[in-house]
Amino acid sequence: MTTARPTLDRNLALEVVRVTEAAALACARLMGRGDRHGADEAAVVAMRRSFDGLAIRGTVVIGEGERDEAPMLYIGEKVGAGAETDPEVDIAVDPLEGTNLCALGLPNAIAVVAIADKGNLLHAPDCYMDKIAVGPDAKGVIDLDKSPTDNLKAIAASKGVYVEDLTAVILDRERHHKLIAEVRKAGARVKLISDGDVSAAIAACIPLTGVDVLFGSGGAPEGVLAAAALRSTGGDFQGRLIYKNDGERDRARKMGITELDRKWSLLDLAKGDVMFAATGVTTGDMLKGVRYFKGGAHTQSIVMRSKSGTIRTIEAEHHFDRKPNYGW
Ligand code: FBP
Repeated sequence: MTTARPTLDRNLALEVVRVTEAAALACARLMGRGDRHGADEAAVVAMRRSFDGLAIRGTVVIGEGERDEAPMLYIGEKVGAGAETDPEVDIAVDPLEGTNLCALGLPNAIAVVAIADKGNLLHAPDCYMDKIAVGPDAKGVIDLDKSPTDNLKAIAASKGVYVEDLTAVILDRERHHKLIAEVRKAGARVKLISDGDVSAAIAACIPLTGVDVLFGSGGAPEGVLAAAALRSTGGDFQGRLIYKNDGERDRARKMGITELDRKWSLLDLAKGDVMFAATGVTTGDMLKGVRYFKGGAHTQSIVMRSKSGTIRTIEAEHHFDRKPNYGW
């Protein structure tokens, strides 16, 4: 008799939030203290520790870097309780997405984890990715091969609004000057952000955030994390890797990417049943950040699962005297 290979249990979605909560609680202590490395390290250590409590046999496919450059949550690291009956899963993490945001006390720093069955998340190299992300009401109309102007027109038509009603979020970088000028010329409102394109992509899917589309290039690993979230929210995402040099091309090949210039769709980046959790570190468009009270702190998290499309917002009250090991 053959035993069925264990797959993602839906209760895992509720467990995984502990991992992002722990990371957020640990690094939020360093909010605004100008110490980006310290904040990142605190998040990594806390997240790594809490993975041990999850009933999975996980392999980090999007993580803190290669084994020789990252002591924890490096690519290829095995995480989870690791019992034989636990599912084998791919893990994508960004313990502190927006290290500068946290270090400077700016909005939208989050702790993020995505989990999918083994082989279902793209092993993206640490290079840039050109991205476009929209919510469910513009699904199927975006095309990275078309100009930002054409995309804005298609998004506006799909939403039944004017281009002038749309807000595009773009990372405020020199490389985006041409893009920003074009979006402004097309008539859309523009929100420039200093960091944090994962939360911007998700915000495009959430009503009342006032975000309609994310344009521009950011980290490729962050692209996979955003796609994992958008699988549940019903939004749409396309990405294409951008290489600075042949070294980055070689790295992509080593990570198993054969079509280097491919336009990746949502399902190419994160397929099958995908779970996603994020906890706010600093208050932003999507989540409230960590707020302390005497002896504890409040966190707000979002947890989603693509199979059911259920999106849960979890408010938690943590009491440090009863959880002495919580993150620091
Ligand atoms: P970190 O948290 O790793 O600092 O990433 C923040 C971020 O803004 C991402 O959201 C984005 O994808 C990437 O950096 C953009 O990279 P760059 O700062 O090189 O333009």
